[in-house]
Amino acid sequence: MRIALFNQKGGVGKTTTALNLAAAIFREGGQPLLLDLDPQCHLTVIHGSTPRDSGRSLFGFFQGIRALDELAIPWEGIGRLVPSHQQLIKVDSIFGKGPAILNKLRLGLDVIDESIPGNAAQNTIIDCCPYVGVLALNAIFACDVLLIPISTDYMSLQAAEQMTRTLEILEPVLKRRVERRYLLTRYDRRRNMSKDIQNQLRQRYDEEVLQTVISENVAIAESPSKKRDVFNHNASSVGAKDYMALYKELRQQNLI
Ligand SMILES: Nc1ncnc2c1ncn2[C@@H]1O[C@H](COP(=O)(O)OP(=O)(O)O)[C@@H](O)[C@H]1O
Ligand SMILES: [Mg+2]
Repeated sequence: MRIALFNQKGGVGKTTTALNLAAAIFREGGQPLLLDLDPQCHLTVIHGSTPRDSGRSLFGFFQGIRALDELAIPWEGIGRLVPSHQQLIKVDSIFGKGPAILNKLRLGLDVIDESIPGNAAQNTIIDCCPYVGVLALNAIFACDVLLIPISTDYMSLQAAEQMTRTLEILEPVLKRRVERRYLLTRYDRRRNMSKDIQNQLRQRYDEEVLQTVISENVAIAESPSKKRDVFNHNASSVGAKDYMALYKELRQQNLI
């Protein structure tokens, strides 16, 4: 399955969730492929390998120089990563917005899926940038499900509404409803506000809101600076438990 982490709001846990969900898949015996589709390269920096040559990043894929498989580098304890590069910021201005460029990632991932013997499902996780442009549209067009992290604060409810409106505009082009799940992140059980926001989100989006919430947790916050996922950093932390619960819930829904 292909899961894209997207929200037009920054700092909500897209990159954190991409990393730790991939790590959970690996721990359960999978070999996920991570794509860093954000020119800010946060995921690539956590991996510790920003390519000097933009052609060796996703930019090379959009230029048509290299296939995704050629660009993927191993990530111990996680799977594989197709790295980002600052040059990705230029994709909008260089390649425009025609259907060929918007479907490029979907077709590139199809090539990888077809190359897997017996068509075993490749779990692909796409970390997006926080704006709607060629990059995010590629992710939305390519994914089976959009995972929308919502950090547990009131501004995030507005951001969720904005996401809904964006998808409503895109769906006539896609000719399908974009499958989506909302994930509450940075959840603080001691605050009444957390429960209130969770209830409001449920009222509005019903079953599309995942039961799992990701707690505000120090191990989650610390681990990227050590270039680790939360399981490697502290396997018994609340953060590690929450991300494993997320994996299990998505698996139960056949989204992984
Ligand atoms: N559950 C959490 N608990 C504590 N800190 C978190 C949590 N989720 C994310 N963070 C921190 O919040 C910041 C933004 O998260 P990030 O995943 O980079 O957001 P985004 O990719 O949406 O911009 C990072 O410093 C990250 O370590
Ligand atoms: Mg990010």
